[in-house]
Amino acid sequence: MIHVHHSQRGEPIFHLKSGDSSYVLSVFHGYLLHLYCGAQVSDDDLEYLLVQIPHDSVVPRPSHTYEENKWFSCDAATFEYPANGCGDFRPSAIAVKMMEAHGNSSAFAGTTATDLRYVSYEIVNGKPQVDKQPAVYASDEEAQTLIITCEDPATKLTVKLYYTAFRDFSAICRRTVIENSCKEQLPLDILRAYSASVDFTSIEPQPQLLHLWGTWARERHVERTPLAHGTVSVSSKRGASSHYHNPFAALVTEETTETHGMAVGLSLIYSGNFEISADTDPYGTVRLMAGINPSDFTWRLEPGESFVTPEAVLVFSDEGLGKMSRTFHKLYRSHLCRGEWRDKTRPVLVNNWEATYFDFDDEKILSIAKEAADCGIEMFVLDDGWFGQRNSDKSSLGDWFVNEDKIRCGMKKLVEQINALGLKFGLWFEPEMVSPVSELYKAHPDWCLHIEGREKSIARDQYVLDMTRQDVRDYLFERMSAILSSANIEYVKWDFNRNLTEVGSGWLPAERRQETFHRFVLGTYELLDRLTTAFPQILLEGCSSGGGRYDPAMLYYSPQYWTSDDTDAMERVDIQLGTSMVYPASSMSCHVSACPNHQTGRMTSFRTRGHVAMGGAFGYELDLTALSDEEKELIRQQVDEYHRYYNVINRGDLYRLIMPNDTYNGKQGKCAAWMYVSEDKSEALLTFVVMRTSVKPVYFLKLQGLDPMAQYRDEESGRIYHGDTLMKAGLNLTRRYTDGDSMVVHLKKV
Ligand code: GLA
Repeated sequence: MIHVHHSQRGEPIFHLKSGDSSYVLSVFHGYLLHLYCGAQVSDDDLEYLLVQIPHDSVVPRPSHTYEENKWFSCDAATFEYPANGCGDFRPSAIAVKMMEAHGNSSAFAGTTATDLRYVSYEIVNGKPQVDKQPAVYASDEEAQTLIITCEDPATKLTVKLYYTAFRDFSAICRRTVIENSCKEQLPLDILRAYSASVDFTSIEPQPQLLHLWGTWARERHVERTPLAHGTVSVSSKRGASSHYHNPFAALVTEETTETHGMAVGLSLIYSGNFEISADTDPYGTVRLMAGINPSDFTWRLEPGESFVTPEAVLVFSDEGLGKMSRTFHKLYRSHLCRGEWRDKTRPVLVNNWEATYFDFDDEKILSIAKEAADCGIEMFVLDDGWFGQRNSDKSSLGDWFVNEDKIRCGMKKLVEQINALGLKFGLWFEPEMVSPVSELYKAHPDWCLHIEGREKSIARDQYVLDMTRQDVRDYLFERMSAILSSANIEYVKWDFNRNLTEVGSGWLPAERRQETFHRFVLGTYELLDRLTTAFPQILLEGCSSGGGRYDPAMLYYSPQYWTSDDTDAMERVDIQLGTSMVYPASSMSCHVSACPNHQTGRMTSFRTRGHVAMGGAFGYELDLTALSDEEKELIRQQVDEYHRYYNVINRGDLYRLIMPNDTYNGKQGKCAAWMYVSEDKSEALLTFVVMRTSVKPVYFLKLQGLDPMAQYRDEESGRIYHGDTLMKAGLNLTRRYTDGDSMVVHLKKV
């Protein structure tokens, strides 16, 4: 997978063949330069691709390259990990500030110039676990990792760059380790430490950054922003990856579609403040970078200490966005998600949140659970409100003790009764939060994030616990373990309902306070790790006011995530298709809820709500005791369908046929279509949703991903088609639709 050659100057050229892609980098006069990434190529020596700018006296050139290569300038070179202040004026991936120690001064103290030169490399089989942060994993047969050591020639700072190439995935995983090996034994502050940076030359035609924007209840909508000279970026400063931008972007061109053109996806395995940016220089080179947001971040490194960045994942496709997404799906489903539930069939659940909100007791819960058992539902999830004095969102976060005024029979008994109905039981927590009205806050007012002497912002009537503190994490572990061991709890919904403000941690010295945001994330990871290790059998579902922290790092701990608090089926089409740019169906938790929908007031048929919710980990979120017999019969049918389609949806390949914003829709109202095809192409499932109909619409849907030579039977009509006919001529779905209609076509190879 990784080949090493040497250039005419005797410096190494590394060719990483990953899946059907190539990633080529070389050492040139000591600089580590990027030469190519994209569809696989045969040649290794690609140095002829380097950007050569004619002599121009205003552009600084390094003295050591000047005689031999007058055209070489750091300001036009394509760097693998661009440093700072030594001739490259574009955004840098790294910047460190040398500090002084008591009685020990240096000429470098207070300066931020950072230069990096190649020192050595090592290739190892597999993918080493660099530290405990979430990361993709792979066996020795599946991957190889190139570790390149660079050094600042002046200070002797060490930077190690990790690149993993895969046998089966067109992807490269990157991360960076910065070591304070500086010769003067002085502390330093890291000001910027990106996970990855790639310089792309000549992206034609017009390059664009495709990214996922949103807000509460409107997460991950696809947007394409044309690149212009200067920087386009998406980021978060909220302490969570956030609803607003997802830690993902793809470099595409204006011609990239679902099936054609280049798409380089860049996904950051991180749940905190991040930035992904694309900077276009005067020579048309696009620098794509991803990492921890340098705003509100510094990290003090004492001599001998190292800092490990989060991991970034690059995925290459020369067949459009569809192929890029399918690579992400498979990689994340099989090499990022972990634990028993990675591959196990997820149970159909009913969650009581939209059914009862805070207004329930054990009897009400049992009455819903009884109906659930009668409808074939497999798990009951008790959401917010079971602990402390929590009868509204105004109190009790942090008081993780069962409220026996509501759960009068006690948790153990309640779970036993639910288990006796044949249902599993799951429970909601929001560990990282504390209500000002709580026993926990009374006892430990200093446990929340705050800056002494500064007013604290409040959101949803709650503060955020300081997850950088060991005592806070120990308390949460003790409380959660006690509850989880007290009854047969087989699922946890881990919520996180506000962002971080007034961020500073009292226990950290002033020079380390700007580490708080990142330490918070590491603290949350540590607690997640302890709990998933102690309770490996529990199915963990992430949540953050819906999908406000839906990122790859959370999928490392929780194989499924509550996609959005917006359960309206029409809205969910946009949200789920946007989410599918990166994240697999098996990670998207989707529920059928009541109508009129609680978020939008819209009415949609029960059938369509089911069709849309089947696009992921399926469940219900409504009062089952208030349903008609007809609706309950529909639930039985849907549960049955979910089981029939489970394999193709959750383990198959996704093809997005019509996106809700495609121009196609201008003529035909607004509709969307997607399909899943099993890996062996023996089965496919098409979902078609008409969100807004128009007069006399005509729909021919050309399917994708089938075996062209095989014949497929439509399981409902019994009609048989050839795969090539379905893909070339398509299905004729023309008929009269009303707003919100949907249909599903299940095809099986004959
Ligand atoms: C968040 C979640 C919801 C629900 C509530 C409970 O908003 O996204 O699903 O759990 O919290 O307070």
